[in-house]
Amino acid sequence: MEQVSGFSKLTKAQKVQRVAEWFPDQTAEIAKEFQSFWHANAETQKLFDEFSENTLTNYYMPYGIAPNILINNKLYAVPMVIEESSVVAAASKSAKFWFNRGGFKAKILNTKKIGQVHFHWSGNFEKLKKVFPELKTELLKNTASITQNMQSRGGGILSIEPLDMTHIEPNYYQLKAEFDTCDSMGANFINSCLESFARTLENWVGTNPIFQDQEKDVLIIMSILSNYTPECIVRAWVECDIEELGNFDGGIDAQLFAKKFKTAVNIARHDVHRATTHNKGIFNGIDAVVLATGNDFRAVEACGHTYAARDGQYRSLTDVSIEDGKFKFWLDLPMALGTVGGLTALHPLAKRTLEILGHPSASELMQITAVVGLAQNFGALKSLVTTGIQKGHMKMHLLNILRHFEATKSETERAVEYFKTHVVSFSAVNELLKSWRNT
Ligand code: MEV
Repeated sequence: MEQVSGFSKLTKAQKVQRVAEWFPDQTAEIAKEFQSFWHANAETQKLFDEFSENTLTNYYMPYGIAPNILINNKLYAVPMVIEESSVVAAASKSAKFWFNRGGFKAKILNTKKIGQVHFHWSGNFEKLKKVFPELKTELLKNTASITQNMQSRGGGILSIEPLDMTHIEPNYYQLKAEFDTCDSMGANFINSCLESFARTLENWVGTNPIFQDQEKDVLIIMSILSNYTPECIVRAWVECDIEELGNFDGGIDAQLFAKKFKTAVNIARHDVHRATTHNKGIFNGIDAVVLATGNDFRAVEACGHTYAARDGQYRSLTDVSIEDGKFKFWLDLPMALGTVGGLTALHPLAKRTLEILGHPSASELMQITAVVGLAQNFGALKSLVTTGIQKGHMKMHLLNILRHFEATKSETERAVEYFKTHVVSFSAVNELLKSWRNT
């Protein structure tokens, strides 16, 4: 492949054509394929095109619903965008299981977000700390036009402090600020405040007579929010008497289930290989809701994984206790979500998701999202410690395998019937179809 220049200047049709031409034998089909995923409504398509750059087409993902999720005695049907079979089914099954046992509970532990201005400076830090209240007044004054709106909604800048970071690198300091961004995820708000702080810091230190000539130069390295928000955190949990858990497939009673479940979580707390898979299962649910609401799933993932490693070892995000005959299972998860701003009102389906959820606040959405993550993890562990994961998983995957072998409608129906009593595998499906097709 050759280096491409001026690609962004091409029209969309030209971009499609240019990429299709990378496949000389199939140029026309490929161009047609890209176009076949364009939205029928040109205005809607333009909207999607403008979410990103160099857009050729849309990449479809299934949008499903996990109904009957009872959270704090309120019933939700939660939209989920996910391509992996059995994720929505697992969330729905867990929701059903807990519906009869009091439902899920969730609460916000805190909603603070963080931003940092990183800078080099060769001054006296003790002096800066002493005069910082004056500088802080100036920092707040110069961000007034940015914060006015947020303040009227009850949020804004919560704190700003200078930090000595010279243990990392000579002359390295930080302004670390905390924010409340109400119902918005807040990235633009925080970054605008930080860039204003950076300008004020440079000017104020550069012109303040308290600093000597050699202390006047501030070199701003960068100003950016932190996606690690350990103090913007939600807890979701379920609890019941152990006996209420009931009996499970494979002849497993409530006591044995609780015991195996606790060990499974304990393994994920200590074994990094298991912890990664365990948390991946949680994010199956979290990401699906975050995507359906038009939120930034990369930020949520990055934050969650950092939190999972907060004591130096990567651990399970969920925990379980079995005390006094009670089973309690919970998830503490920091995440920055918004229900206003960003794509939430722009993407028609993100907007619809929020409508289906009953127009939640950002805090309520954090609770719903964490509950789906917990439900997902409960569903995965329940299968793992009872029947194993493949039974349900391969049943769901069967249709994908049949599609791979281009099974007809009647072959599909026969195969679904057949695999009700047989173990699904890629080769088993292949063999079965071959045997039918050769007769
Ligand atoms: C599959 O996407 C997720 C699981 O592997 C999670 C887990 O093992 O806990 C089933």
